[in-house]
Amino acid sequence: MSIEFDPLNGVFHLKTLTSSYLIQIIRDRYVAHLGWFGRIDRWKGSNALAFVDRSFSPNPDPSDRTFSLDTLPQEYPGYGRTDYRSPAFQVRMHDGSSAIDLFYSGHTIFKGKKRLPGLPAVYVENESEADTLELTLKDPVSSLTCVLSYTVWNDRDVITRNASFSNESDKRITLLRAMSASLDFEVSDYRMLQLSGAHCRERHPILRHLVPGSQSIESRRGTSSHQQNPFIALLSPTTDEDHGEVFGFNLVYSGNFLAQVEVDQFSSARVMIGINPFEFEWLLEPGSSFQTPELIMVRSEEGLGGMSRTFHDLYRSRLCRGKFRDSERPVLINSWEGTYFDFNSKKIEAMAQEAASLGIELFVLDDGWFGKRDDDKSSLGDWVPNERKLPDGLKPLAERVRSVGIDFGLWLEPEMISVNSDLYRAHPDWCLHCKGRSRSEGRNQLVLDFSRSDVRDYIVETISSVLRSAPISYVKWDMNRHLTEIGSATASAERQRETAHRYILGVYEVLERITTTFPDILFESCSGGGGRYDPGMLYYMPQTWTSDNTDAVSRVIIQRGTSIPYPAISMGSHVSTVPNHQTGRTVPLAFRGAVAMGGNFGYELDVTQLTPAEKTEIINQVRLYKNIRSLVQFGDLYRLDDLGKDPTWAAWSYVAKDKREAVVTFVMLRTEANAPFKVLKLKGLDPGLEYEFLSDGRLFGGDELMRVGVRLHYPLGEADSVIIRLRATK
Ligand code: DGJ
Repeated sequence: MSIEFDPLNGVFHLKTLTSSYLIQIIRDRYVAHLGWFGRIDRWKGSNALAFVDRSFSPNPDPSDRTFSLDTLPQEYPGYGRTDYRSPAFQVRMHDGSSAIDLFYSGHTIFKGKKRLPGLPAVYVENESEADTLELTLKDPVSSLTCVLSYTVWNDRDVITRNASFSNESDKRITLLRAMSASLDFEVSDYRMLQLSGAHCRERHPILRHLVPGSQSIESRRGTSSHQQNPFIALLSPTTDEDHGEVFGFNLVYSGNFLAQVEVDQFSSARVMIGINPFEFEWLLEPGSSFQTPELIMVRSEEGLGGMSRTFHDLYRSRLCRGKFRDSERPVLINSWEGTYFDFNSKKIEAMAQEAASLGIELFVLDDGWFGKRDDDKSSLGDWVPNERKLPDGLKPLAERVRSVGIDFGLWLEPEMISVNSDLYRAHPDWCLHCKGRSRSEGRNQLVLDFSRSDVRDYIVETISSVLRSAPISYVKWDMNRHLTEIGSATASAERQRETAHRYILGVYEVLERITTTFPDILFESCSGGGGRYDPGMLYYMPQTWTSDNTDAVSRVIIQRGTSIPYPAISMGSHVSTVPNHQTGRTVPLAFRGAVAMGGNFGYELDVTQLTPAEKTEIINQVRLYKNIRSLVQFGDLYRLDDLGKDPTWAAWSYVAKDKREAVVTFVMLRTEANAPFKVLKLKGLDPGLEYEFLSDGRLFGGDELMRVGVRLHYPLGEADSVIIRLRATK
């Protein structure tokens, strides 16, 4: 059992592979947090809580001036009962009051892990993989009940948490805030890492020192967003890529979120993550309940790299599902940057035929194949083939594409509706809106109200009939605007503020129905590139289009940031034409290929326009990727650079689990005249093994490659790239 309970001291000891997480029930009611440390065998109280009279920290028990919730490290703090720090939850009781207590009232420990109703979550395949602790807390006055759930993995450094509320009273209670988890670190000498950016500039790592007060990231956009990712990490002062303590937190949720760290007057740091309380309310009728999304918590003593590898292994094997989870993903070509809206079936067939001859395995027809869609002004919702572009329909086109030896995939944007569409003309109230107000458009489109079951049923049926209509092997599920006027025509006034969360629950329900009905289709999520790159989406769709920015130099930064929590197999990564359509930059095809091979590889250009030399190079790239694909997609990632210290180059490697094979990529981002030599130190190899460089047969020890490094050919020019494959000799 990875969870031990000491009834004498009221201590729960949660043991992951290398860490100990300690919870203590004190005074028979309060759930205190004792810390999360490197693994210990037994806790005997060396850091037992101490209590002193602190001025301006009031006392729930008037007879004890030393005890205040304001100074107690807690697991799930409330507001109004002496704690002034940010609460994990807030309520409005039927009489308008807000003070509330959640006191410990019991617990259960069991093998395995429960699924979360209606929400994505990591899972176990075998009960022996993890144990779960459920702490039941109750408010003695209102009978509001909260269950805090902790799942502890036996062979990973992972704890997952969530909270669920149920109203066991006979009065209504409104939840105003319900974070997935909160934990109080006793010290705050950490740096906070966040992944921030914009459309085409997603997930740039930002590191800042914690300071007194609150520091937070959030999304109010209705999706997890390009601007902030639902991930933060706390790094100890000396932590770097390979060494030191780091705590990573990633919310399995695709909507509005808040991730906050509050440093208080005694320099403790309260971390909490969950659905953004901004504009959130949830009415709990008597007898009803509310489930928060899951928070994944990883602790590593091997720096950011160690933390990333723990996330990657967990997401690859226990978040993603279905038959594609463990299979190598196809090299694809997407039509978007090759044709945009301007194509017909002849053009598509020609592109597919050319792609097949280059060794590409899947052709994806992007936006523009349906309704009357020749630009982004119309037709979302009208999921019937465009008669002018595809006069024979989808099926004959897909069959002809497949007949040249390449699979056929299709773009869809099921959550959206164009004002200029038959669907909107028939159902103008099916979009999110606030009665009596005009509807703000984004990319000329509105958002379907997925909080409504009639809308969801219609979409499931319509999309399913498209998927049944032709031999479709892959779907790119896009979502191209953020939410405004987040109201629903069918919700009561007091439930309007539930709409943003109900929308996400609706998206999850639709995805669950469609992806399980079509288990043989590979789904890739997209939201204007990586605007919804989160674990919630990965649960339904095992890969994500990383960014609409396909410029290889930009992609080095974007993919590096993305790789902090998310595995390469989930990262759609394509070679596009030059000058690049987003940045205007021109870099060699070899460089574009090297960068795209760092993820889930593909192309996004008009292959019918290639020169013979480019064709040969692409044939070689595809062949190379197929040879290294299992390493990239299932191996361990080691980031070899430190762009914070030296932004002129980047390097990364994927090492097989048994350490017998690796692929190393080095890219020169900016060159200087008369530059120093570059000796690249590798990581993650077996120091006792001898490795052969497959390109030239040179032999080196793993110890030498890691401790001395390999001298790269000089001079390295701008946008030069080097890919080294190595294999153990015996
Ligand atoms: C946004 C996506 O990120 C692009 O790749 C492309 O599919 C367009 N939408 C199509 O409208």
